[in-house]
Amino acid sequence: MISSDTLPPLIGQSAEFLALLDRVSLVAPVDRPVLVIGERGTGKELIGARLHFLSTRWSRDYVKVNCAALSEDLLESELFGHEAGAFTGARGRHAGRFERADGGTIFLDEIANASLRVQEKILRVVEYGEFERIGGEKTLVTDVRVVGATNADLPALANEGKFRADLLDRLAFEVINLPPLRVRWEDIPILAQHFGQNMARELALERFAGFGMQAMRSLMEHQWPGNVRELKNAVERAVSRHAARNMDDHINEIVLDPFARHWSSAKPVSNGPDAPDTSDVPVLPPASANMPFTAQVNALERNLIKGALVAHGWHQGRAARALSISYDQIRHYMRKHDIKRPAAQKA
Ligand SMILES: Nc1ncnc2c1ncn2[C@@H]1O[C@H](COP(=O)(O)OP(=O)(O)O)[C@@H](O)[C@H]1O
Ligand SMILES: [Mg+2]
Repeated sequence: MISSDTLPPLIGQSAEFLALLDRVSLVAPVDRPVLVIGERGTGKELIGARLHFLSTRWSRDYVKVNCAALSEDLLESELFGHEAGAFTGARGRHAGRFERADGGTIFLDEIANASLRVQEKILRVVEYGEFERIGGEKTLVTDVRVVGATNADLPALANEGKFRADLLDRLAFEVINLPPLRVRWEDIPILAQHFGQNMARELALERFAGFGMQAMRSLMEHQWPGNVRELKNAVERAVSRHAARNMDDHINEIVLDPFARHWSSAKPVSNGPDAPDTSDVPVLPPASANMPFTAQVNALERNLIKGALVAHGWHQGRAARALSISYDQIRHYMRKHDIKRPAAQKA
């Protein structure tokens, strides 16, 4: 059972992320259904929990069901329960999740995978709070707030007749869209720092080594199709491998594809004349408990911008592109952190 004090923190500082948190805070106390839409790993479950714990139902049950994990019959019985002998193998009476979540919130993950029959029953609970256990005659009443989550295009599915339009109308009272990580790159450094520190603590390391410039560049340049979950894995993998090698310096390697075979296409490290000179790029400071949060974030920002500029021969356009930010943004960050091309390198 999760509770509000075991809730994992939501980390982020991008404008997109802060706007999302604001919307969640506005939507949470309004006792209506919510749809949470987002790619895998964007934090749909974390948002679902937040919606519950910021609502008036916070002290009641928060129940999660994955609609893609069960067959149609099992999902129906899981959600609505069954009477003894309702079907082969139904030994005793079984209370469904809607019954047990009475007064609380139910999180229906992968809701697009629920069959049309189950959708119809969900609609009835949403509209009238009524349902029957499978094999039961008696109509039961429950008061549950429904939060649905999916990455599917529900309006398109409704047009194709694969999702009930009337259920969609009800659930879409509020729709919360979670932005993928690649459109809020500013969140990558603090998320990476956060996951790195947690992993270091879990491994009982003395301290978190911090990321070197090269590692941070890999993190910033990757597109993260698996979003925050993929980032978390990559960071944890990097910290544990670094710890296993017992090295003193910063983390310099991020393995983005754990399936990659090390014996094929291993590119030699370029030391040729074209290789950017990164010798004057400071590595990121290791996180330390006594360094305030904003100072750490500023240091990360400054290093990322400077690192990209050095790596691209101080060509601002190319450095901006490497970081997936606009030219105006890189100018902004250069001003903010007073980053200037060293005089000796000026053409
Ligand atoms: N903003 C965030 N801050 C901290 N951790 C996050 C954040 N977003 C996602 N995570 C973590 O990423 C992983 C995937 O999140 P989850 O909510 O399960 O994604 P989804 O349900 O969209 O696939 C979890 O370990 C979660 O704790
Ligand atoms: Mg999920």
